Amino acid sequence: MARIEAEVGTPQGGLMKWIDDRFPFTSTMKYHVTEYYASKNFNIWYVFGVLSFVVLIIQLLTGIFLTMNYKPSAAEAFASVEYIMRDVEWGWLIRYMHSTGASFFFVVVYLHMFRAMLYGSYKKPRELIWIIGMLIFLVLMAEAFAGYLLPWGQMSYWGAQVIISLFGAIPVIGDGLVEIIRGDYNISDITLNRFFALHVILLPLALIGLVFVHIVALHEVGSNNPDGIDIKEKKDENGVPLDGVAFHPYHTSKDLVAIIIFLMIFFSVVFFAPEMGGYFLEYANFDPANVRATPEHIAPVWYFTPFYAVLRAVPDKLWGFILFGLSVILPLFLPWLDRSRVRSIRYRGWMYKMALTLFVITFVALGWLGVQPAEGIYVLLARIFTVLYFAFFLLMPYYTSIDKTKPVPERVVYNG
Ligand code: HEM
Repeated sequence: MARIEAEVGTPQGGLMKWIDDRFPFTSTMKYHVTEYYASKNFNIWYVFGVLSFVVLIIQLLTGIFLTMNYKPSAAEAFASVEYIMRDVEWGWLIRYMHSTGASFFFVVVYLHMFRAMLYGSYKKPRELIWIIGMLIFLVLMAEAFAGYLLPWGQMSYWGAQVIISLFGAIPVIGDGLVEIIRGDYNISDITLNRFFALHVILLPLALIGLVFVHIVALHEVGSNNPDGIDIKEKKDENGVPLDGVAFHPYHTSKDLVAIIIFLMIFFSVVFFAPEMGGYFLEYANFDPANVRATPEHIAPVWYFTPFYAVLRAVPDKLWGFILFGLSVILPLFLPWLDRSRVRSIRYRGWMYKMALTLFVITFVALGWLGVQPAEGIYVLLARIFTVLYFAFFLLMPYYTSIDKTKPVPERVVYNG
C-alpha cells in the first residue's frame, strides 16, 4: 500500500521528470532551442527576426501600461495622453517607448524582409514562412494605423479620414464599407472606440498567434543561411548538420549582443529624439483633432509613405486604390515570381543584383516622395518610381530565369 502511494503521489526522478510526464517540456526545449541546428555562418542580417520579437514585447508591455491611463473617447483621449506625459509617473517614458517602438518595429521588420530578399529565404521550402510573414506585416500595418488614431490629434483624425475614405473608391460597396469601418457618417467617438478595441485586443492577439505559427513553420523546415544552402543534406553520424550549431547557446549568445546594442540605439532615440524631426511623432499631432480645420499637409507616418506615394501617383481614384493595394500585396507572390535556380544573392547574376539595388532606391525614393506635396516634379518622380516598383516584381519571372548564376558551394562559407 505504502509503495503504491509512493508511485502515484511522489515525484520519482525529480521535478523535471514530473513535469515531462505531464507536459512535453524537455522535448520541446530540445526541438526548438538546444537541439535546433541553425547554420554557423549567420551574419548581422539574421538578428532582425529576434529584434522584431523584442520590439513586439516592448509594444505589448508599454501598451498595457498606457491603457491603464488612456481614455478611449473623443472628448477625453487627447487630454488623457497629455496627462500620461505630464502627470503619470514615468508616463512620458512609457509613451515615448511605445511611439518609438512603433517606428522601430517597421525598421526591423523591413530589414528582416529585405534579408529574405537577399538570401532567397522565401523560396522552397520556406514559402509558408514568408506568407505568414506577409500576414504579420499586414496586421502590423493595421495595428499601427488603428493606434495612430488613438491620441486624437490633428494627424490622427485627418490621416484616418484620408485613408478610410480611400475605400469609398471601390465600386458599389465602397460607400457602405467606409461606413462600416467608421461606424458612423464621420470619423467620430464611435470610430475611436472600435479602433481602440482592434488596437488593444484583436490585432495584438492576431500578431502573437501569427508570430507563433511563423516560428513553428520555420522550425519545421529549418532556417536558411547567407549561402542559401540546405544544411540538412550533410549530417554527421548523430544526425547533426555539419554546418549547423545549436540555437542555444551559440545563436542566443550572439543574439544577446545584438539585443543590447539595439536597446542602446532604441533608448538613445527615446531619450534624445523621440519625435525624430516629426517623422516618428508628427508635429501636427500635438494639436487636438479639429473637425473644421484640415492640417496644411496630410502625410501618414514614414513607414506608410512608400505605398502612399504610389496611391497619389495615379490620377484616377479607383486605380490609385488598386495600385496602392497591389503595391502592399505583391511581395506575397515572391516565392513564385522568383524563378532563379539559386537562393542567395552571393550566387546570383548581375541582373538580380541590379534589380534589387534599384528596388531599394525605389522604395526609399517613394518613401521620401510620400511626404512631399503632390505637385509638380514630385508627381512625375512618384510616377517613374511607381513604374520601377511594379517592374521589379512583374518582370522578375523573366530576369531571374535568364540571369546567369554561379555554382553554389557544397558547404557554407564560414569566415570566423
Ligand atoms: C512581428 C514580426 C516578426 C517576428 C517576431 C519574426 C520573427 C522571426 C524569427 C525569430 C525568425 C528566425 C530568425 C531569423 O531568421 O531572423 C524569422 C525568420 C523568418 N521570417 Fe520573420 N518575423 C516577423 C515578421 C516577418 C515578416 C513581416 C516577414 C516577411 C514578410 C518574415 C519572414 C521571415 C522569413 C522568410 C524567415 C526565414 C528566414 C531564413 O531562414 O533565412 N518575418 N522570423
